[in-house]
Amino acid sequence: MNKELVKELRNLISGEVLFDELLSKHTSFRIGGLADAWIYPKDISNIKNILKFCNSHSIPVTTLGGGTNVLIRDRGIRGVVLNLAHGLCSISIKTDSVICGAGTLLSKLLKQVAKVELTGLEFAAGIPGTVGGAVVMNAGTKEIRNIEHVSIGNLIESVKAIDMNGNVCELGKEDLRFGYRKSNLSKYIILEAKLKLKTGSKKEISDRVSILLEHKKSTQVLDIPSAGCIFKNLDGHSAGRLIDKAGLKGLAVGDAQVSEKHANFIVNKGNASAQDVLELIKKIKLTVFEKTGVELEEEVKVMGI
Ligand code: EPU
Repeated sequence: MNKELVKELRNLISGEVLFDELLSKHTSFRIGGLADAWIYPKDISNIKNILKFCNSHSIPVTTLGGGTNVLIRDRGIRGVVLNLAHGLCSISIKTDSVICGAGTLLSKLLKQVAKVELTGLEFAAGIPGTVGGAVVMNAGTKEIRNIEHVSIGNLIESVKAIDMNGNVCELGKEDLRFGYRKSNLSKYIILEAKLKLKTGSKKEISDRVSILLEHKKSTQVLDIPSAGCIFKNLDGHSAGRLIDKAGLKGLAVGDAQVSEKHANFIVNKGNASAQDVLELIKKIKLTVFEKTGVELEEEVKVMGI
């Protein structure tokens, strides 16, 4: 972005703006090059102004939530990256539902609704990231012990979103499509979501949360930078089991390594680049295909240039 545009952009924004911001600071993988501008918009009208400005100057706009299910390439993201964590993170609790800003952390939302004994969101225990990212990716947890499989799409009543032309719209159930780790919302910036919940008891909620957290703690990598599961579980195949059976635990390219604990996780042991991870992904896919005939498909969203 040239200096003139940078100046204009700075004047336009009431929220915080950081130029040449290192994206590795904003991803759970601790990987990612520079964003030309990283912006925390203050409110919806601020987002509208940014979109108008960017559209008129052909500046690309990307939204990033918690940065937990993404791999951002080493040359970063050109244009503007929006993060809604500072401006759109209100939580409004109703009798049997909650309306929350897209920048709200899932963990914070779960805590708040549990406090007033609203149940349904326990599946989010241990899922990092924000409501906006979870809605777009339809984040979920499979059945564990007697706790049923729930994805966030199962709870959604409506979504408030803005399209890239700056038009705000309310999308009801009839407009929304959720699939396995996908939705029809990727062309929007999510602003707010209304989730349907039920009255429950504190004890039951906290029991379910404990079971899920325990399962994740014992099976997943929580203490080394990663992007969660790298591949989808397709057609009843557990990607983790396939990679494990192919003997790939511990395989490394640079500082990127197939986790010894859960084979569907790639961990960043320090200075892994996106290129290292992409090469490792290629090797895993090739070996698993050769050994099992299954074509793994990435769950992690690869972004940037
Ligand atoms: N397994 C192995 N080796 C491994 C890992 C797993 O043999 O290295 C076997 C396990 O023993 C088990 C099976 O594979 O029999 C499934 O493993 P696990 O129970 O850990 O769950 P998963 O299928 O790997 C899924 C989601 C997770 C989610 C958990 C719990 C996908 C791709 N993965 O994992 O989601 O947290 O269930 O609900 O859908 C994510 O989306 O980022 C993610 C981590």
